[in-house]
Amino acid sequence: MTVTLVPPGPDLLDQYAAALAQGWSPDNTRDVSAEQLAALRADPDAFLAGLVSNSGTITLWDGRKVPKLPSIRRWIFDGDFCGSIGFRWQEGTEELPDYVLGHIGYAVVPWKRRRGYAGAALRLTLAEARAKGMARVMVNCSDNNAISRRVIEGCGGVLERSFDHPAFPGEAELVFWVPTGG
Ligand SMILES: CC(C)(COP(=O)(O)OP(=O)(O)OC[C@H]1O[C@@H](n2cnc3c(N)ncnc32)[C@H](O)[C@@H]1OP(=O)(O)O)[C@@H](O)C(=O)NCCC(=O)NCCS
Repeated sequence: MTVTLVPPGPDLLDQYAAALAQGWSPDNTRDVSAEQLAALRADPDAFLAGLVSNSGTITLWDGRKVPKLPSIRRWIFDGDFCGSIGFRWQEGTEELPDYVLGHIGYAVVPWKRRRGYAGAALRLTLAEARAKGMARVMVNCSDNNAISRRVIEGCGGVLERSFDHPAFPGEAELVFWVPTGG
């Protein structure tokens, strides 16, 4: 099955809502399934606009609200909704604010896992970063997340360091640099 990335849109919104209703969260630092589902049901158009907007704020794992960085949000698609991948960056630098866990984050719905979709989505997003002139991006995962580590290393990621992160007590957060091929 061919995997593509598509912009969030109304055609897949029911499938996205069904994933949220089953407890799937597109944010890996905190479970946003309930709050996203409530927002989606309250105003679907505003919800979709918010997903792709580059203005406004995002809420961190500790409740802090911070301004959104420039970003691209895509849904992973094989004919059905499969998951979500986000790419955020700061113009003119490969640095990120310390509260941002990597340039790229992704989550695949449980019923579409183990098909290579996360790796495919990451490779497609690396091409977006390359098109922006970035030679490499930072991608993080927990040392408990062996599957995500495989995804990152499968795309050429090289471990740089690990650190303790307050969102994940008892787990080390691994920091990888992944070449974009650019
Ligand atoms: C991590 C996650 C995105 C992986 O998605 P996926 O589409 O199933 O991943 P892939 O199919 O591309 O698999 C990646 C690798 O892990 C392996 N793998 C996948 N699931 C596995 C499992 N349950 N047990 C062992 N290996 C597994 C695959 O064989 C593949 O290895 P390979 O490249 O050597 O063949 C998905 O499990 C997920 O959404 N988890 C919750 C959110 C999350 O952890 N996001 C990442 C945060 S950093």
